[in-house]
Amino acid sequence: MSLLENLKWRYATKKFDATKKVSEDDVNKIVEAARLAPTSSGLQQFRVIVVTNQELKEKIVPIAWGQQIVADCSHLLVFAAWDKYTAERIDDVFNATVAERQIPYEQVAAYVERLKSIYLNQSAEENFVHTARQAYIGFGLSIAQAAELKVDATPMEGFTSTDLDALLGLEAKGLKSVTMLPLGYRDAANDWLVNLKKVRVSTNDFVIEYR
Ligand SMILES: Cc1cc2nc3c(=O)[nH]c(=O)nc-3n(C[C@H](O)[C@H](O)[C@H](O)COP(=O)(O)O)c2cc1C
Repeated sequence: MSLLENLKWRYATKKFDATKKVSEDDVNKIVEAARLAPTSSGLQQFRVIVVTNQELKEKIVPIAWGQQIVADCSHLLVFAAWDKYTAERIDDVFNATVAERQIPYEQVAAYVERLKSIYLNQSAEENFVHTARQAYIGFGLSIAQAAELKVDATPMEGFTSTDLDALLGLEAKGLKSVTMLPLGYRDAANDWLVNLKKVRVSTNDFVIEYR
């Protein structure tokens, strides 16, 4: 099936079959799609946290405004972005890049300085607006990869990020949660959304052309 067919197949699953587990191989592919995502300046400003611990998933339910999918899913992915830019974070990426490509640092030096002059002169809040956007790119690719594998997933923003960050100890890692993606297999008999038509604006309304 094509990517488009799989995107039509997927839906924001409302009820997971808690007895069905996604294979580690499939989870790894879904995470890998996020790792391979393009990001601004290639900085990969986000990380993916994989939660399978049942007790922890249950503690997240009230943080996710009572959404039971968090407890019933097989694997819960949390997309978390850098809380701010630092010189060290930017340096780490470019030092690794020149080492892997075996190119002289001088080739990237001016670019690195330009990035630092932009981001290090912004507030942490402004930085996070930018880093969180990068997390959404990986999030989207993971959603598509899950669909390609016929793994059900629910994109989620419905949670209190500060509470989730505290529970997962993200501040100490310099991260703030952005989105969650529970993975699993639909409980079709008990999911009110499964048979409802997918609703999207028409292509005519969606595309604005300047010919
Ligand atoms: C960023 C984002 C946040 C969302 N948050 C939630 C959520 O917290 N809970 C939920 O059940 N669905 C959530 N959704 C699912 C959307 O409501 C759903 O994707 C949308 O209505 C389109 O339907 P479809 O995904 O079934 O095609 C979210 C989707 C996105 C992309």
